[in-house]
Amino acid sequence: MEALVMCLKAVTQRGDTVAIESPTYFGIFQVMETLGLKTIEIPTCSVTGLDIHYLSRAIKRFGIKACVFVPNFNNPLGSCMPDEKKKELVQLVTQYQIPLIEDDIYGELYFGKNRPKTCKSFDTEGWVLHCGSLSKSLAPGYRIGWCIPGRFTQRVKELKLMHTVSGTTLTQAAMAHFLSIGRYEYHLKNLRRALYTQCLRYTQAVIEYFPTDVRLSRPAGGFVLWVEMNKEVNAYKLYQEAMKYGISITPGQIFSASGNYGNCIRIGYGRAYDETIDYGLKLLGGLVKKQMKAKQGSERSFAG
Ligand SMILES: Cc1ncc(COP(=O)(O)O)c(C=O)c1O
Repeated sequence: MEALVMCLKAVTQRGDTVAIESPTYFGIFQVMETLGLKTIEIPTCSVTGLDIHYLSRAIKRFGIKACVFVPNFNNPLGSCMPDEKKKELVQLVTQYQIPLIEDDIYGELYFGKNRPKTCKSFDTEGWVLHCGSLSKSLAPGYRIGWCIPGRFTQRVKELKLMHTVSGTTLTQAAMAHFLSIGRYEYHLKNLRRALYTQCLRYTQAVIEYFPTDVRLSRPAGGFVLWVEMNKEVNAYKLYQEAMKYGISITPGQIFSASGNYGNCIRIGYGRAYDETIDYGLKLLGGLVKKQMKAKQGSERSFAG
């Protein structure tokens, strides 16, 4: 998060417009608000990610000053931009000289054979500011992240110095050791396998327990599922109901500043599948059905 803030500060001024994916991680909205930036939401497909043609039109129309995208397994869709599309995106931002802040926090959590490429790997002129972190792949509490800010490196270094001088050196040294002896790679192999299995188990349960008209994302990495339900379902109400049973989901509304995704929820599958999870998903599916029944009942009595 700090890397995103430093990079944004390095390339924007208050009042500027920044392109983001839609839906996108709610933390990004908080950052934008704090920095006094406006956002334009670019439609994003749950399989192939960002709509580049839309972005291209938005660049010409809205004078976009920067982009913040999560091309690999974005949160909440889990979508992954094909590498060819990343190349096209880098060409576009390079042509218009627009800094692209690439949040690659989920990049290591792939289910396929190889790690998906980064936009940074196609960047020849330094317009991509690549940000990474150990938060999703190892532990969020270590607070270790980094960035490779391309042509903005000097400015980002100055900002970092001004804000926090440096990161915590002891944890960094411990992590550097962990990485250098191959333990991180070993850990990642196990983690990817576990997440893939959990993704399948959770998906299966949602298909079994939720109404038949739900639409589900099919993530190829990361640890979140995006569930689109019937238009009658209010995700925020569902979240409140579920909390009464100790079930934590994220309502779709908070992934957009435009009030979209009111019938969607994000379900995290980071926890190993067990009886408690199974019971929770069954209960959640029941709550969705109950909402739909209540809605249909009230419509019938109104018509009657
Ligand atoms: C897309 C994305 N970027 C950034 C963050 C924040 O990461 P960190 O804990 O490393 O600051 C998150 C956390 O959920 C995230 O999903």
